[in-house]
Amino acid sequence: MPGNNYFNAKRFMNSIYLDNAATSYPKPKDVLDAMTAYQQNIGGSPGRSGHKRSIDAGRIIYKTREALANLFHIDDPLTIALLKNATEALNIALQGGLQPGDHVITSSMEHNSVMRTLRFMESRGVELTVAPCSPEGEIDPGDIGKAFKKNTRMIVLTHASNVTGTIMPIEAVGSLIKAKGNALFCVDAAQTAGALPIDVEKMSIDLLAFTGHKSLYGPQGTGGLYVRSGLEKRIAPLMMGGTGSRSEFEEQPDFMPDKYESGTPNTIGLAGLGAGVDYVLEQTIEAIRAREEQLTGTFLEQLKEFKDRVTVYGTTDTSRRTAVVSFNLKDVSPSDAALCFEDKHGILCRPGLHCAPSAHRTIGTFPQGTIRFSFSFFSTRQDIDEAISAIRDLLSIGAC
Ligand code: ALA
Repeated sequence: MPGNNYFNAKRFMNSIYLDNAATSYPKPKDVLDAMTAYQQNIGGSPGRSGHKRSIDAGRIIYKTREALANLFHIDDPLTIALLKNATEALNIALQGGLQPGDHVITSSMEHNSVMRTLRFMESRGVELTVAPCSPEGEIDPGDIGKAFKKNTRMIVLTHASNVTGTIMPIEAVGSLIKAKGNALFCVDAAQTAGALPIDVEKMSIDLLAFTGHKSLYGPQGTGGLYVRSGLEKRIAPLMMGGTGSRSEFEEQPDFMPDKYESGTPNTIGLAGLGAGVDYVLEQTIEAIRAREEQLTGTFLEQLKEFKDRVTVYGTTDTSRRTAVVSFNLKDVSPSDAALCFEDKHGILCRPGLHCAPSAHRTIGTFPQGTIRFSFSFFSTRQDIDEAISAIRDLLSIGAC
């Protein structure tokens, strides 16, 4: 570290972090402590060697699985495969679960982790319907119902848009799919795991893809896929290799979670993820949601001061959106605004298309995109006030 400016905390003094939809910052201290404690005191490879460092590493991973199962109301922790991110989880669900000739339905608000995977699969013979959303990013479950065909095998839907924060009617769509019978429901919870209540039973979710480094407050490189018990028989793994189990066989295990967990896992990351999920469980999802909704409401309310010089996207009803706000300023491009916010006000945000071109087409902001401010449980009222004052300043001078 000596001499390396990138690790110098002073570089970030006085910055206001409003990019939690990309990755949350800061993390709870327990997360950092759990990672350090694993590496300093344990350090073994889980499920491999049988000595005490290996066994304790395995215990840490199992505890993370248990905490996640608790959070998502999953009965058996072993139905959760721990992976490197939501993208890997979605690729397993989609590439592993669909065959040429199958039909899949998604929405026009999806991130490229879903869209690019489905476009690739479309080129390999999977039939795709993209159900259109409203300019606020909302989907009518009836439109999903209408898109059903005889060969519909899966519906994949984001729980909330990473562009507008719009929350999708997951429970209603889940009931509709269940009533139809034969298709699987895959939910992309990258933006909502840890931020909104998720109950895989109540929501009729068959496949739940989540990331660890956003609202679960774990480190980057962690995530996972819940696979409803028995479905693992129908979903092929993307990667094969050593699992520490059934080493006598040259074939990949076909049971959870080993089927999807080849190679030495990110134990240090999963130790941190477990502490992050414990933190969410301790604080409670209800309290986290209430705080984030209040911060978002305050920001939206204060934006009204700028009238038609600020365009806000998504619904104005805070109960139907996460703590993500996309907006544009009259006569200022999103990238110029973000540069100005950082250089002059120390505000860190994400401008542009947010890896979700289809969502931006839906809300009418393609190709320039939007400025996106995204809050977390750790954001403060002062952050909001500073953000509003930065917008006021930029609008008054028109450039940086
Ligand atoms: N999908 C993440 C974002 O919206 C990375 O920024």
